[in-house]
Amino acid sequence: GNPRLDTFEVDLDDCGPMVLDALIWIKNKVDSTLTFRRSCREGVCGSCAMNIDGTNWLACTRSIEQTRSRATIYPLNNMRIIKDLVPDLTHFFAQYELIKPWLEARTPAPEKERLQSPDERRRLDGSWECILCFCCTSGCPSHWWNADRFLGPAVLLQAWRWLADTRDEATGERLDELEDPFRLYRCHTILNCTRTCPKGLNPGEAIAGIKKLLIERRG
Ligand code: SF4
Ligand code: FES
Repeated sequence: GNPRLDTFEVDLDDCGPMVLDALIWIKNKVDSTLTFRRSCREGVCGSCAMNIDGTNWLACTRSIEQTRSRATIYPLNNMRIIKDLVPDLTHFFAQYELIKPWLEARTPAPEKERLQSPDERRRLDGSWECILCFCCTSGCPSHWWNADRFLGPAVLLQAWRWLADTRDEATGERLDELEDPFRLYRCHTILNCTRTCPKGLNPGEAIAGIKKLLIERRG
């Protein structure tokens, strides 16, 4: 019956070095029904996020050597599970869409691209690298309790990405959408997000940046 835990023994002499390799080994050699997402196996697509030994991480960038000898592998927590290690991301991407993750420009497009100085471009560092794996949001207690209304760290980091972009001309509307006791202010700076991000990003700092912009515009 489901849900249940399965235990597999992996022949490490016959298997690649990463947790994702072990899952592929199990699927090929033991149980072809084992289901998980993966694509790039290089830590850039974000699809293989799961809970490994109690921490959310990417299966393709966690080496088997770093796991316990009896490693525990669960799907990301606080998500509806479709099958085995595959969570339903529908709600997370609906929340992502809400922050309009695209450039909103009102002035007519120039003949070539909208230019930025190197310093302006550097303001995006720390947010463009996000691969939307949702390790952070899945590990955030505020999101566990208020997933219906709190946007969570991954989406708020992306909201910050567009607020920080000097080419974007919708800062006021973006802040209006975020100035809400739940969407933004349910963040209580627990910082599990920053601790668990497999890309080394700091959603907690981005959320603080949004709060600072809101205070500044009140004058
Ligand atoms: Fe994943 Fe980090 Fe982006 Fe969160 S901030 S979705 S943990 S890459
Ligand atoms: Fe793409 Fe792991 S398979 S991040």
